[in-house]
Amino acid sequence: TKKITIAIDGFSSTGKSTLAKQLAKQLGYVYVDTGAMYRAVALFAMQNNLISVDSFDKVKLLTKLKNIVLEFKFNTELGFAEMYLNGENVEKAIRTIEVSGFVSKVAEVSEVRAKLVEQQQEMGKNKAIVMDGRDIGTVVFPDAELKIFMTASAATRAQRRYDELLQKGDSVTYEEVLKNVEERDYIDTHRDDSPLVMAEDAVEIDNSHLSREEQFEAVLDLVNAII
Ligand code: C5P
Repeated sequence: TKKITIAIDGFSSTGKSTLAKQLAKQLGYVYVDTGAMYRAVALFAMQNNLISVDSFDKVKLLTKLKNIVLEFKFNTELGFAEMYLNGENVEKAIRTIEVSGFVSKVAEVSEVRAKLVEQQQEMGKNKAIVMDGRDIGTVVFPDAELKIFMTASAATRAQRRYDELLQKGDSVTYEEVLKNVEERDYIDTHRDDSPLVMAEDAVEIDNSHLSREEQFEAVLDLVNAII
């Protein structure tokens, strides 16, 4: 069988990472969560007081970009790689609603995108990779052999994210989560640099009414038709 690149894009909380992890495990491929990288940059900006509800010091963030080192380290117990920011495991810290509130603003900055895209292309240069994000099939790997574009209604997605955050013990309301999902959708689809759009040659999957297993089987069939 041949090694391919699988690009999975779509709106937030469509279950991209769940599908991508399942696929990577099944195929013995590397999985890369690019959202985690943007989240880590947002966390860095928060830690350095460069971003708050009413201000964002982009210029200062740009001067500090070279000080941001992002790495994925495989956790054998969890079975997937965790995000490290300057040597520190930030896997939990990047999943809070606060980071979710700032990440799309940070992801609008072209210099941030250029830095992360370069690192993502490097990680995928030998193929055998499943990468999820917003611009993987359009910008990072326009030649990917398989591109999936995932969608689901905003209410379905907010409910999923809300359940996830509750389980982790975060005290959030459903309305707060829905508002965040809608705001990120808006910013992600309207930014100038690499907006979230479906690549022309992507396969669209609306999973509002699909179980995880049904979705996985459908995508696995697509993979097997190629490899
Ligand atoms: O995938 P996740 O929801 O964790 O991504 C967080 C945010 O990072 C997105 O809402 C988007 O603003 C940004 N992002 C991006 N390009 C990617 C991955 C994520 O702009 N490839």
